[in-house]
Amino acid sequence: MSSIEPGFYNNKDLILDKIWALLSKGVKDREEDFRLPVVVTNSKQGPDARIVVLRGAYPDRNVLRFHTDIRSEKIESLKNNKQIYFLFYNKEEKIQVRATGTATIHYKDETTAESWKKIQSMSRKCYLATTAPGSVSDNPTSGIPEQYNGKTVPIDETELGYEHFAIIESTIHSFEWLYLASKGHRRAKIELSGTSPTVTWLTP
Ligand SMILES: Cc1cc2nc3c(=O)[nH]c(=O)nc-3n(C[C@H](O)[C@H](O)[C@H](O)COP(=O)(O)O)c2cc1C
Repeated sequence: MSSIEPGFYNNKDLILDKIWALLSKGVKDREEDFRLPVVVTNSKQGPDARIVVLRGAYPDRNVLRFHTDIRSEKIESLKNNKQIYFLFYNKEEKIQVRATGTATIHYKDETTAESWKKIQSMSRKCYLATTAPGSVSDNPTSGIPEQYNGKTVPIDETELGYEHFAIIESTIHSFEWLYLASKGHRRAKIELSGTSPTVTWLTP
């Protein structure tokens, strides 16, 4: 564990900026651990979790964004219960962030249209699956038409994927922060719901 004491160690006013800095880095930097959060939803059978790629972090609106297939099971869960939970951990910085929020599903609207334009063929390819994610198959399958497996799909042939493309935007209501340090861990709760964020120290 690092022996250098970061500014936020005893200054709760610096924690929220650090959280958004890590989230923003996660959107841009493939090497950043915060790029791959665990996202938890509530299915009818109980809690359900999966890893996604963080695609957007907007501190001005307290919003996190990821892309998904409209046919995936998480969509059904979110339609029944908008509550969503994110879990992040940066191993090098020893920082865990938990985020609770409310999800909005974007499908065939301005938000998806704008993003779809910028998505490259390799990422669009996932949305070309002919059956829904999680569908039972008699044979091992990628779900993608055979001719595209292992190939770069020409961009005009990926347009069909827009039919399945969805964006989940989550308005974050609170963060919980945990920083591990050999001289003593630090934990804090940040409430975002009021006019300005409130930060409270917690016992780790
Ligand atoms: C590294 C990694 C990144 C992933 N990124 C996404 C993603 O951005 N969006 C997504 O819907 N699924 C992503 N997945 C797949 C999900 O973890 C999950 O298997 C899939 O979305 C089906 O989940 P569901 O049945 O709960 O809806 C990713 C998986 C891994 C391992």
